[in-house]
Parts: sequence; C-alpha cells; structure tokens
Amino acid sequence: MSAVPFAFLVHPRARVSDDLARVWSPLGRVPEGVADRAVRRLPLRPFTMARVHLPDVTPDPVGRVVLVPFGARHMLEAPHAARDRVGAAVDLAARRGAGIVGLGALTATVTSGGSTLAGRTDIGVTNGNAYTAAIVEDQLRALLAAQPDRARRVAVVGATGSVGTTLVRLLARDRAVEHLTLVARAGGRLGALAGEVCRRVPTTISTDLHDVRACDVVVLLTAAADAVLRSEHLAPGAVVLDATQPRNTSPDLLVERPDVTVVDGGVVSVPGLRLRGGDIGQPPGFTYGCFAETALLALSGHTGHFSLGVPTLDQVDHVRAIARRFASLGFRAAPPTTFGRPLAVPAADPHPTVLATTSPATRASSPHTPREPATTAGSPAVVGGPGGASTSATGVEAVDGVTGRALVAAGAAR
Ligand SMILES: NC(=O)c1ccc[n+]([C@@H]2O[C@H](COP(=O)([O-])OP(=O)(O)OC[C@H]3O[C@@H](n4cnc5c(N)ncnc54)[C@H](OP(=O)(O)O)[C@@H]3O)[C@@H](O)[C@H]2O)c1
Repeated sequence: MSAVPFAFLVHPRARVSDDLARVWSPLGRVPEGVADRAVRRLPLRPFTMARVHLPDVTPDPVGRVVLVPFGARHMLEAPHAARDRVGAAVDLAARRGAGIVGLGALTATVTSGGSTLAGRTDIGVTNGNAYTAAIVEDQLRALLAAQPDRARRVAVVGATGSVGTTLVRLLARDRAVEHLTLVARAGGRLGALAGEVCRRVPTTISTDLHDVRACDVVVLLTAAADAVLRSEHLAPGAVVLDATQPRNTSPDLLVERPDVTVVDGGVVSVPGLRLRGGDIGQPPGFTYGCFAETALLALSGHTGHFSLGVPTLDQVDHVRAIARRFASLGFRAAPPTTFGRPLAVPAADPHPTVLATTSPATRASSPHTPREPATTAGSPAVVGGPGGASTSATGVEAVDGVTGRALVAAGAAR
C-alpha cells in the first residue's frame, strides 16, 4: 500500500501566547490575558501551522499540523465548543486531502478519544494512543531495567483514560511490574479496570493522589491544563514518567524535591522528521507518540479509523509492527530527557525478563507492605482472581465515602 497524506491536530497549551508564538513569534508579545480571551471568545478558524517533512521518504510534505485555536483550559471548561472546533479542524484536514487525522493532546479527551468522530467516512481518525501507550511502556520498562534493585511498585495516574487503560493492560499482560496503583478522580471505572488486571498483577486503586507515595515510579497520564502531581504526593527518590500534554508536572517540582526524577514521557525519536512553518514543542527529529502513530499509519497506507476510545492491545501490537517496518526512519522511544534536557539514565533493554509474581494466596492474605498506601484509611476492598480472595459483584467495592479513596489489593493468579 502506498502512503497517504496525514494531518495532526494540536492546540495552544497552558499559556496560549507562548504556543501562538510557535506559529508567529510576535504573537508571543501579546499579553497572556488578551491572547486567552481572544482565543476563547473569537470564532477563530483552524489553520495549517506547519508542514511535515520526512526527506528520507519523499521531498514533498507527508502531512500537515492543524492548529485548533482553543486553549487547554478552554477545552476542559467548554467541551461542546471544543468538539465543534475539533470538528472544524477535521473538516479542514479532509478538504486538504488528508487520509487520516491524529488527535493531539486534549483534542482526544474532548472527543472521548475520537469516539465522537467515529461516524466520519471522509477521513480516518486515530487518537494516537496505541503507539503512545507502547512508547510509554518501553520507557517505563527501560527505567525499571536500569535500576534492577529498585522495587517495581508503579502508579498510573489517569489510569482510566485512553492511554492509561491501554498502558495498564500492557503492563498486566506481561506482568512487567510488581504492583500497580491505579489513580483517577472517578472510582467506578478504576474498580472495573482493577477487577480486570488484578488476576495478573496485584492492584490497588485510589482517588487520592497522596496514595502514590507508596510507589517507586509514577506514570502520569492525566488530562488537565496545569500541574496535578506535586511534591507532597511523591515518595523519597521517586521517578515520575510524565507523558501529559499540556504538562501536569511543573519544573518547580525539581526545585522542591531534588531527590525526585521527572522523565519526559511519550517522546519518539524520528531523526529525519522536520516541521516547516512552526513547531509543536519538540526539537527537530523528535515528536509525540500520538503524532508518530498518525505518521506510521499514513506511511503504511492505512485507510479508515484506527485508535478510537481505548485502543485494543491488538492495535498496539499492530502499530508496533508498523514501527518495526519503518525502523530505518527511527520510530523508537527517545533517549530520556527531563523538561527537554538530557537526563543520565543508563540505557537498558526495554523488554527485560518478565517478572515472577508472588503467589495469589500470599498476596491476598498479606497485601500490605510497609510502604503500601493507606492501609488504615478504610476497609480495603479485596478482589481476587482464581485462587485469590472473593470478588464483589461489580468487581471492586465502591470508593470509601469518608476518605474519598478506594483500595483494592489483589493477588496475581497464574
Ligand atoms: N506524549 C504523547 O505523545 C501523548 C500522546 C497522547 C496523549 N498524551 C497526553 O496523555 C494524557 C492522557 O491522554 P488521554 O487521551 O488518555 O486522556 P483521557 O482519556 O481524557 O484520560 C485522562 C485520565 O486522567 C484522569 N484525570 C484527569 N484529571 C485528573 C486529576 N486531576 N487527577 C487524577 N486523575 C485525573 C481521568 O480520569 P477522571 O476523569 O476520573 O479523573 C482519566 O483517567 C493527556 O495529557 C494527553 O495530552 C500524550
């Protein structure tokens, strides 16, 4: 199959004027309040802010970056208006001949991972989250492999989202971690996910970010306009893999907590990749996982939709196979950086030997290690797989109404 042109949607992130300056530098001098109000209130149309070039493939542009003129806060506060603007950007992409369009940052969140665009037949849609989850998994496994003596208690914050759910399923499939703590604001979906994966990896759920203090590594996959994860949430020496856009960690975290390491997540190396006309916050040769998925699908000649809502693990495997096919162009996790600066983490095999897990009986009867979260905060709901403790009808008991947290400790079944 021959390549199809693609489009990728982006929007201004937390500071609207900073990101508009990436399109035209004088816009960076517009006071933020003015830029924010203008973008929120004026019926601005989407436009092509950059052409995408892969000179190793063709001298012609292979795609375009379309800017949705609506800030991150606007997206979350006015999702109906945001969906209309995303729809207009998809219209533009289709009119310009794109065969597939990728949903960058919160354009995926406001369309329920692209599900609200499923009825479109004029263009394929992908949220890019299958490859993003694959890259975040590779990065996480490389971080764990680089510190083999470190415990492998991993928190996924934003676990019930499109990337989060996919990552959790990937980690459970391979039993890649010792223990999972799944965090989001809504407890119900957390319980369902925990009920699904706890048969393979002991799993705790919580709606309270403070419970990630029990974890050695925190993967951040929330959809918020500003910092969500703060210094008081983190254990001494914790590693944070932050794949959010806009970033839900602040560089101040490193000042307040020099013992903590923050690694930029979801970044892909494609050495020949160039954007002409504007940048989207990555240097030449690097891009985001969701952009890379869109580019890979386009290069492979994919037609129709791909990742919508929560990607399946088959889709992750499929897009990984496409990435292997185009490995001569790169398409692998970027070397580690922290807020864009190189970070010294030893290189490691991202797919080390699968961990052995403790027996179900041991885990179910003794689920709480000294650093496990909030064991006294309420009655933990226990879910067991075959051979483990009893499972409630809904999979997991409801969130503790007093503390706002829910706990599930479960044994891994074989
Ligand atoms: N680096 C990359 O290449 C790349 C690619 C794709 C996506 N992303 C980024 O990854 C993040 C997740 O994307 P997505 O499409 O998976 O989003 P999503 O489907 O909207 O999921 C967001 C998740 O975060 C949770 N959440 C939101 N605010 C929270 C808060 N304040 N505290 C705790 N949990 C919170 C949500 O659950 P509740 O609503 O129940 O809290 C949900 O589980 C976004 O920032 C997106 O821009 C990055």
